[in-house]
Amino acid sequence: MVQNASEGSITSDSHSSPIQHRPRNYQKFPGAQYILPSDEEEKARLELQHRVLQRAISSRLIIPPLSLQSGDKVLDCGTGSGIWLTDLSKQVPSDVSLFGIDIEPRLFPTSELANMQFSVGTTTQLPTDWSNTFRLVNQRLLIAALSANEWPTVLSEIKRVLIPGGWVQLLEAKRWGTEKGELSVKHRKLLEELFASRNLLIDCSVQLPHLLKEAGFENVHVEEYKLPAGSWAGKDGEETRDNFINVFRGMKTPILNAGGFGYVDSEEGYEEWMKDMSKEWDVMEDTTVDICVFYAQKSA
Ligand SMILES: C[S@@+](CC[C@H](N)C(=O)[O-])C[C@H]1O[C@@H](n2cnc3c(N)ncnc32)[C@H](O)[C@@H]1O
Repeated sequence: MVQNASEGSITSDSHSSPIQHRPRNYQKFPGAQYILPSDEEEKARLELQHRVLQRAISSRLIIPPLSLQSGDKVLDCGTGSGIWLTDLSKQVPSDVSLFGIDIEPRLFPTSELANMQFSVGTTTQLPTDWSNTFRLVNQRLLIAALSANEWPTVLSEIKRVLIPGGWVQLLEAKRWGTEKGELSVKHRKLLEELFASRNLLIDCSVQLPHLLKEAGFENVHVEEYKLPAGSWAGKDGEETRDNFINVFRGMKTPILNAGGFGYVDSEEGYEEWMKDMSKEWDVMEDTTVDICVFYAQKSA
């Protein structure tokens, strides 16, 4: 079956015809370019990803130097399954209010605590009545969602909804795979084409320090981590591998709908490639996934 409609508001600028495949569910928020699916499989992946990321950053849920007090409000933009907020709720006073926003509600938790609220909306245009509301805004892994034009808008929206002296924290992927592996190198080229076709900012991690300063944030900090990926790095390496190879599996529909960009011509071919790339990561001992954590403050 050829999948088109359920991938949402795609503006495909492919030069070739869509490649037939079994589709997954994708968001349909007007104007959104996000290329990962939203289904039970993705919810499970986001749980694994949360574990993998938290392990890399010493289990810190809050990165900037702040301690939340009664009455404070926290926002998680692009919250997904709300797993970061749910974890945070166990560490903060019960009268800290926790808000999650996402273009796609399908992964929201089915039961919420009294101090948690989830709403549908875009981080490019947060509700107008949220100005000067939050002490902390978290946003994690929107690399496959935001265009070069949208990033400055998003940072300015986040700044608007922070209280004076409030903090933003962002986590993004910077680089992945191995430069020595043929399949990884070819895959990087494919992703560059996919991201470019939607104007998504594949090097957002390189640009964010500058973008944060441009948006008027102060005290801009960056931390970088290299996560070993593949069985050569033991159980943790296998988890990192599985999470990120499954990210790439999730991009199958946008890639095949766009005709494969000259890199792949069938669903089976794409699946085989992901399987073989996973094996490549297992034996290439330089394979890592590099992430960056950014935090910055709105002036008091
Ligand atoms: C890779 S997932 C990460 C989810 C969550 N931040 C986490 O780290 O577990 C990205 C999420 O961003 C959401 N998203 C994509 N574009 C968005 C936008 N413009 N505004 C709000 N959420 C968006 C997606 O629906 C998805 O749930």
